[in-house]
Amino acid sequence: MMPNSHHAPPQKEIWSIGGGKGGIGKSLIACNIAIILAQLQKKVLLVDLDLGGANVHTTLGMEAPEVTLSDFLKRRTEQLRDVVAETGISNLQIISGARDFLDAANPLHGQKSRLLRHLGQVDADYLILDLGAGTSFNVLDFFLFSNHGALVVLPEPTSIENVYRFIKSAFYRKFRNVVENRALKEVVDAAKDQKNALGLQTPHDLLQCIKDMEPEAGRQLEAEMKKFKPKLILNQVRSPEDVRIGFSMRSAARIYFGIDLEYPGYVEYDDCVWQSIRRRRPLALEYPNSRPRHSLERIVHNLLGHQQLENPMP
Ligand SMILES: Nc1ncnc2c1ncn2[C@@H]1O[C@H](COP(=O)(O)OP(=O)(O)OP(=O)(O)O)[C@@H](O)[C@H]1O
Ligand SMILES: [Mg+2]
Repeated sequence: MMPNSHHAPPQKEIWSIGGGKGGIGKSLIACNIAIILAQLQKKVLLVDLDLGGANVHTTLGMEAPEVTLSDFLKRRTEQLRDVVAETGISNLQIISGARDFLDAANPLHGQKSRLLRHLGQVDADYLILDLGAGTSFNVLDFFLFSNHGALVVLPEPTSIENVYRFIKSAFYRKFRNVVENRALKEVVDAAKDQKNALGLQTPHDLLQCIKDMEPEAGRQLEAEMKKFKPKLILNQVRSPEDVRIGFSMRSAARIYFGIDLEYPGYVEYDDCVWQSIRRRRPLALEYPNSRPRHSLERIVHNLLGHQQLENPMP
C-alpha cells in the first residue's frame, strides 16, 4: 500500500518534454520517463503532441494505433478518452499523435483550447506530453500548460542556444497571457524583438520596465516569474564537463534572465539508446540495468520530489 494512500488523491501532474531543437531525445526521454512512472504504479497517459512528426508509438515499439489525436482534433470523436490506446505496458496508455493531418501542426485556437480542456479532465495520475521541436505558439502553450516543463538540451552550443530561446519565448508568452492591458501587451510584444526601441534585452529588463509603468502588474508578473521553473535535462552526456553545462546554464538563466532553471538530471550518451530504438524496444525495458535507465530514474525521482542535482563545485 502506498504510504500516503489515506490522504486525498493528489492532483493530476502534467509533465511536458520540449527543447526547441529536433532530434535531441525528447521522445526518448518522454517515453522512458512514462515507463518508469508506470512501473512505480502510477497511472500514466503519454500524449504525442508532436503534431507534425508523431512517432511515440514507434519509440514504444507499438504498431500504429487505429485512433489518433487527429480523430479528436477533427471531431471524429467527441471524447479524448476515445483516442486513448493501450500499450501492453501495465499502467501506461498513450494518445498517438496526428500522423495523417498536416494542418494538425497548426491547430486553430479553438481546437487547442478544446484539447487542453480535455487533457485536464483525463483520468490518469500523470500526463506526459511529448512536444514537437521549435517554439511555435502551440509548443509553448503545451509547455506552459504543464506543472513541470522539462527542456532537453545537448552539450552543444546550437542546442544550448535553442533552449535559451525557448525559455525566453515561453516566458514572454506567459507574460503576455498574464498582463491584461493593451499597452503592457504591446511592451511584451516589442520586447521579443532583440532590437526593440525600448532596449529590453532580457526577461529581467522587461519586468523592470513593466514595474515602472504599472507597479501592480509588475508585482503580479514577478510572482509569475518566481513560479516559472523550467527543468533542464542534459542528454547525450559524454564527460563530467558535459554534466557541468547544466549548472552553468542554471546560473546564466538566473543572472541574465532572472529565471530559476532547475536541473533534475542528465542522460549519458550510450549505444544502448540507439540500439533499443532500432530494435523497437523501449530502453527502460530492454536495458533495465543500463546507465541511461538509472539516470532516467534519477530524473523521475527528482521531478517527483521537486529536487534537483547539487552542484559539487558551486
Ligand atoms: N542518450 C543517447 N545516447 C545515444 N543516442 C541517443 C541518445 N539520445 C538520443 N539519441 C539518438 O537520437 C535520436 C533522436 O531521439 P528522439 O527521437 O527521442 O529525438 P526528438 O527530440 O524526439 O526528435 P524530434 O524532434 O524529431 O521529435 C534517437 O533515435 C537516438 O538514435
Ligand atoms: Mg520526438
